[in-house]
Amino acid sequence: MGYVGPQEAAPIIMDGLKRLEYRGYDSAGIAISDGSIRVSKAEGKIVNLEVLLEAEPLAGHIGIGHTRWATHGPPSDANAHPHSDPSGEFVVVHNGIIENFQDIKDELAAHGSEFTSETDTELLAHLVAREYDGDLADAVRKTVALSEGAYAMVVMSSREPEKIIAVRKISPLVIGLGEGETFLASDIPAVLHHTRDFLIIEDDEMVIVTAEGASVETIDGEPIDREITHIDWDAEQAEKGGYEHFMLKEIYEQPEVITETLAGRLSEDGTVWLEDVVFDDAYIAELERVWITACGTAYHAGLIGQEIFRRILRIPANVEYAHELRYADPIIGPRELLIAISQSGETADTLAAARIAPDHGSRMLSVTNVVGSTLSRYADDILYTRAGPEISVASTKAYMAMLIAQYLLVLRLGAARGTVDEARARAVAHGLHSMPAAIEEVLRREDEVVAAAERIVDADDVYFIGRGLDYAIAMEGSLKLKEISYLHSEAMPAGELKHGTLALITEGVPVVAIITQRSVYGKTISAIQEVKARGGYVIAVAYDTDTEIERHADMVLRIPDMDDLLAPVAAVVPLQLLAYHVARLRGHDIDQPRNLAKSVTVE
Ligand code: G6P
Repeated sequence: MGYVGPQEAAPIIMDGLKRLEYRGYDSAGIAISDGSIRVSKAEGKIVNLEVLLEAEPLAGHIGIGHTRWATHGPPSDANAHPHSDPSGEFVVVHNGIIENFQDIKDELAAHGSEFTSETDTELLAHLVAREYDGDLADAVRKTVALSEGAYAMVVMSSREPEKIIAVRKISPLVIGLGEGETFLASDIPAVLHHTRDFLIIEDDEMVIVTAEGASVETIDGEPIDREITHIDWDAEQAEKGGYEHFMLKEIYEQPEVITETLAGRLSEDGTVWLEDVVFDDAYIAELERVWITACGTAYHAGLIGQEIFRRILRIPANVEYAHELRYADPIIGPRELLIAISQSGETADTLAAARIAPDHGSRMLSVTNVVGSTLSRYADDILYTRAGPEISVASTKAYMAMLIAQYLLVLRLGAARGTVDEARARAVAHGLHSMPAAIEEVLRREDEVVAAAERIVDADDVYFIGRGLDYAIAMEGSLKLKEISYLHSEAMPAGELKHGTLALITEGVPVVAIITQRSVYGKTISAIQEVKARGGYVIAVAYDTDTEIERHADMVLRIPDMDDLLAPVAAVVPLQLLAYHVARLRGHDIDQPRNLAKSVTVE
């Protein structure tokens, strides 16, 4: 959030931060200039920062502020933004991730720089100061050229005290235009009560903001004539970015989440770097088994993990519900890795199951979305999912990030164990890097999913079937539908249908069949035929290239053709949308389903 104009900047910025507070954050900070810059920041809720500002108000007509969701370094006063260079003349706030963080840090340190935080953001402040030669915009341009990643950054300097400079590379950024005052924010609702006229900044653009307005240019300095967007949304719509619900917004954020989760971790040849996974190749070589534990949607992500660990590493892998594992007295050896997956990192059952690892002398690796969460503190190794705050109780984008994280992990382990050759690693890396575009394509087909939702909205029961990785996706599709549409649904391996559930398949009963895995294609077709023979209504999720499926299914939801190993990542999206649209047609409270909580911190 930023402001420049005739009013006191601090109250306007604080108000803007509070309007985005519902998205979750772990610390907050503000920098105000009245010629020289002063910074105030505090871990925890915004109210902590307000207390500081009451004691020591910051006066001035230009400023920037930020609420942080930790990525590099846990939540703390020191890690909160804004960050300054050592002179205090340049301050930066930043969303997103600088991929070449370590290289920049090493280089700055080699020249004697000292740091006051563990963040990547502080490095940006150092770089801007170092590159400054009388032109702040130019210094920011040079800093951007040195910083790889997906981010938005905002810079202010006492050397040029009338302006704020911001850059967007993937992470959102908007400018609000007032009368003799200008606002800057990561999203519209922060300033919608001040103005309805916005400049929407696009990727690889820079904007120079003054009280008189804002000039947009490319990152190379070419001017851009950006039209003003007039927003007629009300405040509630604006919070959801114009989407009807957070769940839909989060489904649509998935391509970006994949990009973020991969950022700086996967090269084109399939080499993987995982910053907080610290075990070495010798440990990996001796690994005898992988355990995965989790609850709910995270457990379903673990079902994918189990399958890909087995397939790629050729070692035993088991996923267990955390509430079961914790009481199962499991036989876990010291050469076995326990992976605990949790969006929040606070689920009580998952925390308890994760504690089993040290009791058996084995390592625990946590896959979590929340930096500094309890689970991450218990862990020996951490793989952060970088999905950003998820508001909808029904998880979508966090699940997506859990899948991507596990593909990264399996590539890392597979390379060290020699079970993934170079060609395979390169192919999987290519598939993962292409995934955001593939998901965009699936999202463009939402209308087809709406038609499927209309077909099943009045059903009493819906069944989901698939084999292997398709079964794991069937489980998640069924859970999504249950959670928000309150429609009874069950998922099972396609081959299990005939051992009981087939008795429930009668005229018109909907069965969603996920059919991407080529090695068992014919087997799933057989199950579909069993359903059709009883009058069931089959909605298939299949590749674009699958011409056979139309002869068997009543309706087909298509995904782009891809490596079967990665297909779950794309195949889950139509199922998320299906659950969403059924719930919408049934008129339910989609973001806050009855009886459910986002995070279950009791047993
Ligand atoms: C709750 C939520 C689910 C979530 C599960 C595990 O049941 O409603 O959406 O999947 O907890 O949460 P975690 O934060 O551990 O991933």
